[in-house]
Amino acid sequence: MPGFIRLITALLHFVLLSSVICAQDITPRPVNTIMGSGPGFAVNPSVRILFDKSFMQQAVYFADQLEQQCGIGLQTMPLADTKSIGKDFRLVFDSNKVTKDEMYLLEVNDKLVTLRAKTVRGIINGMQTLLQLLPVEKTTNAIIPAIQITDYPRFAYRGMHLDVVRHFFPLSYVKKYIDYLTFHKFNTFHWHLTDDQGWRIEILSYPKLNSIGSWRDSTLIGHFKDTPARYDRTRYGGYYTREEVKEILAYAAVRGITVIPEIDIPGHSRATITAYPELSTDPKAAWGVAYTWGMYNRQNNVLAPNPATFQFLRTIFHEIADLFPSPYIHLGGDECSKLWWKKSDSAQAFMRRNGLKDEIALQTYFIEEVSKYLKEKNKKVLGWHEIMEGKLDTSTIVMNWSNDEKAIEAATKGFSVIMTPGKPYYFDHYQSKDPKDSLAIHGYNSLESVYRYEPVPNSIVKKGLADKILGGQANVWTEYMEYSTKVDYMVFPRMTAVSESLWTPLEQKDYADFIRRLKSNIIPRYSLWGSSWFKDFEKWTADK
Ligand code: ACM
Repeated sequence: MPGFIRLITALLHFVLLSSVICAQDITPRPVNTIMGSGPGFAVNPSVRILFDKSFMQQAVYFADQLEQQCGIGLQTMPLADTKSIGKDFRLVFDSNKVTKDEMYLLEVNDKLVTLRAKTVRGIINGMQTLLQLLPVEKTTNAIIPAIQITDYPRFAYRGMHLDVVRHFFPLSYVKKYIDYLTFHKFNTFHWHLTDDQGWRIEILSYPKLNSIGSWRDSTLIGHFKDTPARYDRTRYGGYYTREEVKEILAYAAVRGITVIPEIDIPGHSRATITAYPELSTDPKAAWGVAYTWGMYNRQNNVLAPNPATFQFLRTIFHEIADLFPSPYIHLGGDECSKLWWKKSDSAQAFMRRNGLKDEIALQTYFIEEVSKYLKEKNKKVLGWHEIMEGKLDTSTIVMNWSNDEKAIEAATKGFSVIMTPGKPYYFDHYQSKDPKDSLAIHGYNSLESVYRYEPVPNSIVKKGLADKILGGQANVWTEYMEYSTKVDYMVFPRMTAVSESLWTPLEQKDYADFIRRLKSNIIPRYSLWGSSWFKDFEKWTADK
């Protein structure tokens, strides 16, 4: 071969290889990766996506993702209708080789890309890995490196929460947020739908929850601790209709994401008692939907124990249970101030009639009642750790937003636990100590502290309770997130760090390598999605 042709060939080879993503760049890091030999698989417009019929919708999803990322539009076709398999993607249902629910097996050589799974979530997880092996650029000939990956999650529960009450986000953003979860191999979206500042889901049986409870007259400007407090005096609110909720549920189902709704009771109920004052301890008061933050012990936001309230709770929890396919419904249970029940003659009389010795027992009574209503619909209970005082059955899951001691207490009582501690899994906290950083509630949860947090701390292992920890979740309370761009800024890149902690075997975690992958392969995705993110994550480390 003449020298210049050899040179051009070598150059071409270099250009081709340079657009091949390195398998070591995948985040969360897979359990087991074996590099193959050979040139890898060329994705060009003649490649098809062949699918087993159980993965038809996922094949369409994958084709859409490929088109968005690389600008290549591929045809999808059932495997059963395919006479000859050429250089194609094959999405295979396989319950022999695939031994775990969310597991996938990926094999790439120059002839075929074979992705095996036995659940929707498994095949979707494998697709995220594949997408990370493809460049983020428009191309008609991307190369996927020859590789074999066996991968599955460390934890069964991997969640992200979003508060749509303090600020309300359009349906399109809820979908985008679900796409973030999907990409990061989470499996649960915790949708915080009701609180003091508004009701955000249509309820047919109690329409004033929406006509009154979904709207507030004003919103606090600036930080909650600023004096004097300032308000914008602008009506604010809205809610998702049942049709919109169904649209979200269908969207999440294609992606294997479970949506758990939270209806927060018996505290955090100011919007409810504004719509229906007869459910409050002071029915004659002129309630208003809250327009400030931090109601606990400062303003009355509790439900009164009376027949109308229990009728209300049974009806709305049944309506919610009928709408959401999730086996678990979140009933809140957090931060219920006892002040208003102490001051209420009728609440005190109710307690005496029912042999409830104090207000803690009354809170327990509420949780046990709603648990019964949910059981009538074959649903199980999930709630913040404050629910565990009651005699709930051990199918109940406790979401611990406090410290390890609370997790130990819950696990000792026989409950499964999801770890969502304020430090470091609250993404409403600052991610820097820069006074010029965008406003947040308080605290400091750096990317590094999020990455290094271990959801099964030693204290829990020592008590022999490790298997009670189902997983973890980061919470996104939106008091200081007026727009979706601010949500993006607060969650990225911390969401990526949580995803690795909940997926990757502990012994394979490595912060320096995580930062390398974040920069080389994940941040380009944030840009692809048009999402903002916090850029100073290397400066603000755990101990600064
Ligand atoms: C909570 O932060 N009140 C769950």
